[in-house]
Amino acid sequence: MKTKLVMLFILIIAEPCFAQERNFRFNPGKVWLDDEHNVINAHGGGMLYHGSTYYWYGEYKQGKTVLPEWATWECYRTEVTGVSCYSSKDLLNWHFEGIVLGAEKTDSLHDLHTSKVVERPKVIYNSKTKKFVMWMHIDSADYSKASAGVAVSDTPTGPFTYLDSFRPNGEMSRDQTLFVDDDGKAYQICSSEDNATMYIHLLTDDYLKPTKTFTRNFEKKYREAPAVFKHHGKYYLLTSGCSGWDPNVADIAVADSMLGEWKSLGNPCIGEEADKTFYGQSTYVQPVIGRPDTYVAMFDRWKKTDLPDSRYIWLPLTFEGDKPKIIWHKDWGF
Ligand code: GAL
Repeated sequence: MKTKLVMLFILIIAEPCFAQERNFRFNPGKVWLDDEHNVINAHGGGMLYHGSTYYWYGEYKQGKTVLPEWATWECYRTEVTGVSCYSSKDLLNWHFEGIVLGAEKTDSLHDLHTSKVVERPKVIYNSKTKKFVMWMHIDSADYSKASAGVAVSDTPTGPFTYLDSFRPNGEMSRDQTLFVDDDGKAYQICSSEDNATMYIHLLTDDYLKPTKTFTRNFEKKYREAPAVFKHHGKYYLLTSGCSGWDPNVADIAVADSMLGEWKSLGNPCIGEEADKTFYGQSTYVQPVIGRPDTYVAMFDRWKKTDLPDSRYIWLPLTFEGDKPKIIWHKDWGF
């Protein structure tokens, strides 16, 4: 009897403690922990929804942040460690699945060498080849390579096999994202022409290469950090301006087709510091599965002198008629 009472007491006391460990709210800008109490490390990230699970991929930033001796602009960097992956059923509670594409430690010529730049990884699933395909920004430390890299895996949690890097259709590619349309066609959207113009490349059926079909968008408007989603048959493209790790004003554009023509709707952000995107920079917009017309807009709040301590700003993206808006909330839930 006494043991039973002790057990009951432990259950009553312990249950709320376990319950408290789950996240029920988003707290933009705060330190976010995974289910093992480690700080979530997935910057410049993207999301894949597959088999009733959300997978969050991002830059795993670790170690000292340095400004190279030769720097002529604020190109603060950390050594490349790889691309991380987290999984979740509800977008709030995340489990670390590991580094799914690791850095290369010895071959200094390799694209994934620690001395290079590997940014903004995005993963899509190809239902024909049954492969998970990752595209990322591959660069030299001075950002002159301006290329896209591709890796593949049989599972969403990797390991991914790195294939190659190239300039899509011979043109530069830096900040980038991917989008798969309802008809299975996939696109890579990237800042090109030294970030002045945004290119949208239709991909081959296996999603591994660009086709020759591409468009030039926002000519000489210097937009980067692209994030695309589709709402009621129209395409939306959220971008930032070009000011390195420092925040600037966001823009959202709409089009009837992924290849354009894109029409700017202005800054969708509303609230304090909306003209600085709440000190964030866009990286992805994720539809909330099972909740029509509900989207989560994902931003990075970069801390340029200590990049691993950069934070995540996720906010609800809603519509007022046809106009998307992103309102600042310091605490919110579904
Ligand atoms: C930003 C870009 C980041 C990173 C940074 C380096 O403009 O969005 O992904 O490349 O520059 O300075």
